[in-house]
Amino acid sequence: MKKYVMALDQGTTSSRCILFDKSGHMRSVVQREFTQIYPKPGWVEHDPLEIWSSQLSVAVEAMGKIGAAIEDIAAIGITNQRETTVCFSKKTGKPVYNAICWQCRRTADIIEQLKEDGFDSIIRERTGLVPDAYFSGTKIKWILDNVEGAREMAESGELLFGTVDTWLIWNLTKGKVFVTDYTNASRTMLFDIHKREWDEDILNRLGIPRSMLPQVKPSSCVYGYTDESVIGGVIPIAGAAGDQQAALFGQCCFEAGEAKNTYGTGCFLLMNTGDKAVASQNGLLTTIAASTEGEIRYALEGSVFVAGAAIQWLRDELRMIKNAPQSQEYAQDVEDTNGVYVVPAFTGLGAPYWNPYARGTIVGLTRGARKEHFIRATLESLAYQTQDVLEAMEKDSGITLKNLRVDGGASANDFLMQFQADIMNKEVLRPECIETTALGAAYLAGIATGFWKDKEDIRKNWFLEKTFLPFMTQEMRQEKLKGWKRAVRCAIAYAK
Ligand code: G3P
Repeated sequence: MKKYVMALDQGTTSSRCILFDKSGHMRSVVQREFTQIYPKPGWVEHDPLEIWSSQLSVAVEAMGKIGAAIEDIAAIGITNQRETTVCFSKKTGKPVYNAICWQCRRTADIIEQLKEDGFDSIIRERTGLVPDAYFSGTKIKWILDNVEGAREMAESGELLFGTVDTWLIWNLTKGKVFVTDYTNASRTMLFDIHKREWDEDILNRLGIPRSMLPQVKPSSCVYGYTDESVIGGVIPIAGAAGDQQAALFGQCCFEAGEAKNTYGTGCFLLMNTGDKAVASQNGLLTTIAASTEGEIRYALEGSVFVAGAAIQWLRDELRMIKNAPQSQEYAQDVEDTNGVYVVPAFTGLGAPYWNPYARGTIVGLTRGARKEHFIRATLESLAYQTQDVLEAMEKDSGITLKNLRVDGGASANDFLMQFQADIMNKEVLRPECIETTALGAAYLAGIATGFWKDKEDIRKNWFLEKTFLPFMTQEMRQEKLKGWKRAVRCAIAYAK
């Protein structure tokens, strides 16, 4: 009898493995942070081999921790930081360059050129995305243009491209399977989300050979099996989805109008729009949502580039806190931010502003500003950014959300969740399991292999842990939001 589904959650700053049982409870968790490489201001890279080795090691350790055998694992579900780009040799499996992280801004000028040439409307219409350096397309072009020998390899069919899901599946199957899923493909800026195929015009415009691209499959299906020599046995790999789409699925937002917000490295608010791809008029993205085989679902997404990363910045660079939970203690030591606003636009601004040149900005400093105010303002910035995308989402969808489901690491912060409810003037619902990204990947793999029957079967596993009700007066809310908008204008004014 199979006891668990294994979720491999390959995030921006850590690789994690969680074993879930049938009731959706976490039975074993192992997590490992890996190296962030910043070669130049605004550039971010990862070592693909470290991504793979950290992911494999946490998988083995998670099993060892509870004495789970290969035979206990029904399936593997993969979820990953999206857009991050790996180019590797078909023959040797070796990457030709570091993974260019989704946060990396190095291709902003390529995007500008596309816009000048009037190509942006084609991109918007077909891919559902706002043309930006965030997505994989221009990162692949950069590698082909700048890494010696890469273009020749690509043209002779020897170079492959993958988002991190593809890279992990390739390695887990020892190079036998070269695939991605709809959700990850829809973040490359190369995929027509309506026809559900790679777009020849965009590929030609960016000079990317079709032969580099993986086969695209549903998020819930058997892609292949682990090679025995890799993990000590054969396990079906049966689910894959970008982390934000996986979280939407894990939160059981299956119906049009249901939405969630995940506080990870960034912060991503997604709303299921059913089988309709809703085009945004307010700076949001249209993207494919994870679904079971045979159905297609779309979502509207507001992508905020820096959220939990701002708390890590307080910890690692500024050394104001020793660990993330301490940020809550400091924030609660003061009544407000004393007029301080922090706009953590470290890698430009995403939705709804889309400005790659904006930079982190602190405003409102006075002689009385203390570390506590500074920490509180950083935490509050996560909630303000969420409010910005929520506003855009309500306009685009015509739906007024009654409440918002939350998940991800920083959703454990009660101070932040209360402020989020106050600033949105909406209820915030926190489920028992906030590792919803991994849970979503497990559900996708478990449904494909019969571990769970269907969506109704897993809906029973969603339990509310806490509701945060809004208490702030309308007047106070408006005043704070006005200050935030002014601070954002300063961050943008810094842009070139
Ligand atoms: O689009 C980027 C996103 O997938 C990264 O997610 O959880 O690492 O913030 P996370």
